[in-house]
Amino acid sequence: MAGGIAAYKAVEVLRGLTESGHDVTVVPTAAALKFVGAATWEALSGKAVHDSVWAQADQVAHVRLGQEADLVVVVPATADLLARATHGVASDLLTNVLLTARCPVLMAPAMHTEMWAHPATQRNATELRRRGVIVLEPAAGRLTGADSGPGRLPEPRQILDAIDDLLRRRPAADLAGRRVVVSAGGTREPLDPVRFIGNNSSGRQGVELARTAVSRGAAVTLVAASLDVDPPAGVLLVRVGTAAELHAAMVEASSDADVIVMTAAVADFRPDAEAGSKIKKESAGATLRIDLVQTVDVLADLTRRREGERPVIVGFAAETATSNDDLHALGKAKLARKGCDLLVVNEVGRAPVFGAVENEVLIMGSDGGVTELSRRSKAAVADGCWDAVVRILAER
Ligand code: CTP
Repeated sequence: MAGGIAAYKAVEVLRGLTESGHDVTVVPTAAALKFVGAATWEALSGKAVHDSVWAQADQVAHVRLGQEADLVVVVPATADLLARATHGVASDLLTNVLLTARCPVLMAPAMHTEMWAHPATQRNATELRRRGVIVLEPAAGRLTGADSGPGRLPEPRQILDAIDDLLRRRPAADLAGRRVVVSAGGTREPLDPVRFIGNNSSGRQGVELARTAVSRGAAVTLVAASLDVDPPAGVLLVRVGTAAELHAAMVEASSDADVIVMTAAVADFRPDAEAGSKIKKESAGATLRIDLVQTVDVLADLTRRREGERPVIVGFAAETATSNDDLHALGKAKLARKGCDLLVVNEVGRAPVFGAVENEVLIMGSDGGVTELSRRSKAAVADGCWDAVVRILAER
């Protein structure tokens, strides 16, 4: 770990890892030891900390630790650490470990907003991602002082989930260096200050797509409408409410994207006017009529805006079909109408999909190819979708 105030949160991450049976060697930088002392790391890891290239020189720790690791996790990663890692500076034991490690490397940056947003730090993060390092996006929120913004270390539980995902699935970093934008959840169209028209989407499939893209090495923006599940660690989170807000956020986030995935359940209609004050029973009478007007089709608009072959665009479709042939026909028609590269088609009439942890889909390509993914977890469906995207990226 590197030396930042968020080092105290790394204590929780270490505890979670040892409690779940992992063998952890702590390699703090000199600055990290100013925040949390060696005794804490040693007590929790059950091992001596390694903090110097000169200690135990007979065991060549600076080479062995990196070579033998299954995973290297840097929590927190400071601006200085990101810079040194990018340039291959081997000025202490941690940076030596980073140079010798050939296993997956996950970094969780934490710093002040200005330091994270600085072009130098951004360029370093981009370069590390291009090389396959998983660099989590910092969370936004309260920083050390009274200020707030992006730069917070994600919560220890979320970092542990990301580590678990990497160790369990051992995904290839085949989205390394790619910028991915995923929309998820259901939009809400306000009727008045207290009511809205919403839908049944839990956002779970979109969240799994974002999570798996992070573990495959992508820089991920998650445009989140209403979600029933927690967003994963390491994504740039943009919260939206209405279809119009989602549209604006997607257009902005997509400007430099390699891949766009639209899993959000976007309202097709919204009330033509939002009442400024709560609609009252007495004034509405026995029947309340609301005129609805169509919203923008975000997916179709994003495909229209595309120039050339970038980004790859993936749509989702929930259909109630009478037969498998009917499902194929509905999917084919929607794929053509939306103009996207891939359409992931769900049958929602027979098996429960909304809020469920499993899903069964058809992935239809604009080249006519169809892949059927039998019933499996939404995380496994997400991996299947990314496999299809990676094939298209490789061809372009
Ligand atoms: N979608 C969108 N904007 C909308 C409606 C849908 O971007 N206003 C996107 C969804 O995110 C999804 C895809 O379009 O990726 C298909 O959504 P779906 O609801 O199945 O299609 P609709 O266009 O609404 O067609 P219909 O409801 O008539 O089947």
